[in-house]
Amino acid sequence: MADLTSASLSRRDLLTALASMSVAAAFPARAADLRSASGVDVLAAAPEDLMTSPDKVLSLGEFEGLARRRLPPAHFGYLNSGADDDKTVRANLSAFDKWFIRPRRLVEVTRVDTSVELFGIRWPTPITLAPIGSQLMMHPDGELGTARAARAGNHLQILSTVATTPIEEVAKARGAGLWSQIYPTTQWDITQKLVRRAEAAGAAAMVITTDYPAPPNRETQFRGARMDTRDCRQCHINATEDLRRKPMYIGTQLTAEQFRASNLNWDLIARLRDVTSRRILLKGILTAEDAALCVKYGVDGVIVSNHGGRTMETGRGTLDCLSEIIATTQHKIPVLIDGGFRRGTDVFKALALGADAISIGRPYCWALAAFGEAGVARALQILRNEFDVTMRLAGVTSIKGITRQAIGAV
Ligand SMILES: Cc1cc2nc3c(=O)[nH]c(=O)nc-3n(C[C@H](O)[C@H](O)[C@H](O)COP(=O)(O)O)c2cc1C
Repeated sequence: MADLTSASLSRRDLLTALASMSVAAAFPARAADLRSASGVDVLAAAPEDLMTSPDKVLSLGEFEGLARRRLPPAHFGYLNSGADDDKTVRANLSAFDKWFIRPRRLVEVTRVDTSVELFGIRWPTPITLAPIGSQLMMHPDGELGTARAARAGNHLQILSTVATTPIEEVAKARGAGLWSQIYPTTQWDITQKLVRRAEAAGAAAMVITTDYPAPPNRETQFRGARMDTRDCRQCHINATEDLRRKPMYIGTQLTAEQFRASNLNWDLIARLRDVTSRRILLKGILTAEDAALCVKYGVDGVIVSNHGGRTMETGRGTLDCLSEIIATTQHKIPVLIDGGFRRGTDVFKALALGADAISIGRPYCWALAAFGEAGVARALQILRNEFDVTMRLAGVTSIKGITRQAIGAV
């Protein structure tokens, strides 16, 4: 903060200092029951009044404070919640601290190639967007804003089954570069219908989420709802009706119970092959045993994910799961990973452990909540830039150069 006693204090310094003081007074302490997912004091990191446009935001973490301020407690609770005590949310983040980077010197890094290949398509960056439901709840730009921002930086976008915008419209906004996430249901005819519709809309791959067979205990979300004084019945009727209003389920008779595929098994995955000619990836794989079954059943790719720590309190960060999965798949199929990616150095560490690409979830939604499409574009630009700079500072000029030797265990 500026020194208020300085004779050289400019008017701008004074306004800046006053702005930060008033915000500090307005937010003496964060509510303990809506914790920052990152565990850092995001409100202290930078007063939100100083971040009036996307270009003033310095890091993905700073968007979190903005989202917390702009979203009603029920919606921020939904976005940030984990399961039970949110320990797995924190495990995802702290897993990155178990590794350090071993930079090499005297390597010319004038040109750095951050591009990766997935299923024969080259992407300028390994940073992709994880499927997140209900984005219109965060900002009127919703999934279309995210799609336009993804398109601007040519990031692969995975669209949620429970998106609030029809997949056909999102595919149009994104152009090529959209994968569709599918929650299988207990009703095979509905599951088939979802896959066929995604294929017709142009989705190049189906990401089957496997970690949601029972309703999770999202206490942070429930506390957020409890704190909210608005009349939620304006928008929410009940679980079944709310689901049926999601564009992917319009015209189906899906119930909330049928939504969670408690009957999902490997036969059902094999049957999906007859429904679609598109690539099939399984999201939510966390063990070598399941990775081996993915290879055995001819799955095209794996996403190492614990749903951002919001289905089950596994207590293990996704980065901690990565090595056993890579040791099993042996690079025969692409392995993507999500959970806790907030910095370019995080991306670097996951690639050094063998991932082909990474996804971010909450951070682009914080940015969406803060500034709509422009926020998402800025968040992606920040992470791309951090990753590019990490490669240069580590003395690596291509993704292939990010090897296991580039990092060490703390
Ligand atoms: C608010 C929210 C909604 C989500 N919705 C979905 C979804 O519809 N389908 C899905 O497969 N995963 C969903 N996820 C999980 C994300 O795809 C991803 O695994 C997770 O957010 C990654 O962790 P991160 O948020 O720490 O980056 C959701 C996550 C959040 C935070």
